[in-house]
Amino acid sequence: MPRLRRLFPILLSGACASTPTDFDSRRTRYLDLMEGTESHCNEILEDVKLRRGKETVQGRLSAVQKNLEEARQLRYRRVETENSEMDEYFETFFLKLDQLASQDWTAGEGERLWDKLQFNCSICHGRFRD
Ligand code: HEC
Repeated sequence: MPRLRRLFPILLSGACASTPTDFDSRRTRYLDLMEGTESHCNEILEDVKLRRGKETVQGRLSAVQKNLEEARQLRYRRVETENSEMDEYFETFFLKLDQLASQDWTAGEGERLWDKLQFNCSICHGRFRD
């Protein structure tokens, strides 16, 4: 028994080394949310091209916002100053998203608005995506 107890911490530390860290699992969730966001954006482009109703586009823009709000809360970066900086990028993004969401995407300007949305995604990607 004493021998087992002595072994146990070793086993435990071995287990920890192979278990994903909290940061890793948060990053996985973050990437899932980003992929979901991209799907919503692709659907928005379809909506616009097929001239689907205003409510459809608004619903998807809300889904983009919801996904990215969750991503923001994850603070998955190991370096805390990066999380704080990313938080500011999210803040700016949400202000732009509000402006974009207040426009009528179904009035013929939808593709131009969609390009603007993509541009705003790329501002943060330019700074933080490897
Ligand atoms: C405030 C920052 C920020 C905003 C805003 C943002 N992203 Fe991202 N996104 C990131 C970061 C950082 C990564 C890379 C994460 C990594 O690899 O650790 C990423 C990765 C991605 C990926 C790749 C996911 C994967 O599995 O590799 C997609 C797709 C994506 N974002 C889509 C979008 C779309 C679409 C928007 C806009 C509607 C958007 N993102 C807005 C920060 C942001």
